Amino acid sequence: MREEKKKNKEGKEREEGKEREEGANKNGAKKEKPEIILRVENLSRTYIRGKIPVHALRCACLTVRKGELLAIMGPSGSGKSTLLALIGTLETASGGKAFLDGTDLTTVPEKLLPRLRREKIGFIFQHYNLIPTLTALENVELAMRFSGVPKKERVQRAKALLEELRLEDRLHHKPTELSGGEQQRVSIARALANRPALILADEPTGEVDTKTRDSIVRVFRELSEKGQTIIVVTHDPAVAKECSRVLQIVDGMISDED
Ligand SMILES: Nc1ncnc2c1ncn2[C@@H]1O[C@H](COP(=O)(O)OP(=O)(O)O)[C@@H](O)[C@H]1O
Ligand SMILES: [Mg+2]
Repeated sequence: MREEKKKNKEGKEREEGKEREEGANKNGAKKEKPEIILRVENLSRTYIRGKIPVHALRCACLTVRKGELLAIMGPSGSGKSTLLALIGTLETASGGKAFLDGTDLTTVPEKLLPRLRREKIGFIFQHYNLIPTLTALENVELAMRFSGVPKKERVQRAKALLEELRLEDRLHHKPTELSGGEQQRVSIARALANRPALILADEPTGEVDTKTRDSIVRVFRELSEKGQTIIVVTHDPAVAKECSRVLQIVDGMISDED
């Protein structure tokens, strides 16, 4: 009898847990939320400048689900790049944890980090960071070279990605022969090459005109609609407006209600 009661209670708790996980859509029908791709727990980073500690990031908490296009906004020096660098494992945290696709990034041994970055994270930077001596196609193909993808497939996939980004006429152009917007689209193709769980973009439209900005944002939206998870740091309200969610960071502090 007592067993029976316990079972019922457990069942009820499970149901309640499930309800919490589910959001209701417009028609009131239950719709399951997409899976969590990234969970950041009390992540912090302190730099020591001379003898003075700089708290670049303080106890950041954040949950990002599959297919989200999340904008992070905040004044200059508020810790936006630090947060992306920690999630991207380019910097080491002073405290806290970050789980990407189930892996705790803060405990991965240093020598395994390049592989993790290559396989799980795509980076997009303000200054594109393309290799100037390589063509668009070669820049994208290079990203796959250390991932064990055979040459033929690398070229095929690079071509397909560049075509998707409407660069089919620019495959053999070098970065100096491309406009800013085209270079940024090559860098987006490169970021997508290894089918990462997460794309991190640090002010990707910081250097381009408004028309190019809008075309880059459109690409992000299309990718997000196809299930690609993207975090974009931006100063630009016009970029943030197109994102599925916007979080503010001030003085290294960010809060997320999820
Ligand atoms: N390598 C570093 N050494 C010392 N201080 C740093 C370093 N990187 C960033 N900071 C400081 O951390 C704070 C946050 O920087 P950052 O994350 O680059 O801000 P944002 O990207 O929002 O402009 C700033 O005060 C910055 O000066
Ligand atoms: Mg920055």
